[in-house]
Amino acid sequence: AHVWRGVLREYADRLGVTDASTVVTLGEGGTPLLPAPALSRLTGTDVWVKFEGMNPTGSFKDRGMTVAVSRAIEHGAKAVICASTGNTSASAAAYAAHAGITAAVLVPEGKIAMGKLSQAVAHNGRLIQVRGNFDDCLEIARELADHYPVHLVNSVNPDRIDGQKTAAYEVVEQLGDAPDFHFIPVGNAGNYTAYTRGYREEAEAGVSTRVPRMFGFQAEGSAPLVRGEVVKNPETVASAIRIGNPASWELALEARDATDGWFGAIDDTRILAAQKLLAGEVGIFVEPASAISVAGLLDRVEAGIVPQGARVVLTVTGHGLKDPQWALRNADGSDVQPTVVDAETSEVASVLDLAPVE
Ligand code: F0G
Repeated sequence: AHVWRGVLREYADRLGVTDASTVVTLGEGGTPLLPAPALSRLTGTDVWVKFEGMNPTGSFKDRGMTVAVSRAIEHGAKAVICASTGNTSASAAAYAAHAGITAAVLVPEGKIAMGKLSQAVAHNGRLIQVRGNFDDCLEIARELADHYPVHLVNSVNPDRIDGQKTAAYEVVEQLGDAPDFHFIPVGNAGNYTAYTRGYREEAEAGVSTRVPRMFGFQAEGSAPLVRGEVVKNPETVASAIRIGNPASWELALEARDATDGWFGAIDDTRILAAQKLLAGEVGIFVEPASAISVAGLLDRVEAGIVPQGARVVLTVTGHGLKDPQWALRNADGSDVQPTVVDAETSEVASVLDLAPVE
């Protein structure tokens, strides 16, 4: 049996890692690519789900953070800094803790999911809540990194993209080739850019025969790439991608054009319905931002853009346990009411509509 050693060691040749390199790893990468029979039946396509919630801190950020923190240490950094909608802060704090350095994390006040907030605190991150949105946080983080001894680990740091492109390598290995279409959530568009780069490298190296059409999705109230302009006050239940001014805007447009790709917007109702569908009928629980990949597939199939039988991969970026409140809410906004019974077998049987076996 092969023991997974994290992306820096598994892809050492591709990431320029030698015996002399610093490697800060929590064993990230090597995530499952799972068939989704219920989605395949529903759409008439061949659907596979890259479950990035299986990374050590529960999101895809770990693939980039292992590279960014390792290289920060090689540069002599004693502290890293990031702006975050939650997942980057959880990941930065965990990798910094492992490396024995400090992570300062700037998050929009009251706008990040509880699971992510607790991770940043648990890993001893220097958590600072900013009265502003993510875009304000990123501006401050960049200025701090320019003028103070702190190393920026947002995806504007190319080391992050370098690590995150390994997910595309894995998909090609897991399927034996690249898919026809790839569906992915978009916030800063760093991950969209990273997958495109990974797929292109695989095709150039002759490992795969194609680069998939890259389809990225933003929430309706936070869709600057779709609208073609900055969104001043982005809103959505998918707090991870509540971003109005994507850092990798230009790279993303280039990646879209090079892959015959697409950026689409999905409203919150459809995001939450997709989350429920994936959890309830495929068995994969993801946070709302991640479910937009599923909603995007349904949207594009309905529009007649994805041909029957096409092979599609959906990246689901973060675990559902990070932001569980939405699963406990009904479509009409009311709370899910769990059934409560007395401690009697017959009562439970009755609630479950079970008749005794003769
Ligand atoms: N999905 C999740 C769960 C995320 O946390 C993010 C970004 C994205 C998708 C979008 O990725 O920015 O590369 O386009 N989260 C960042 C953060 C902004 O701070 O955790 P992107």
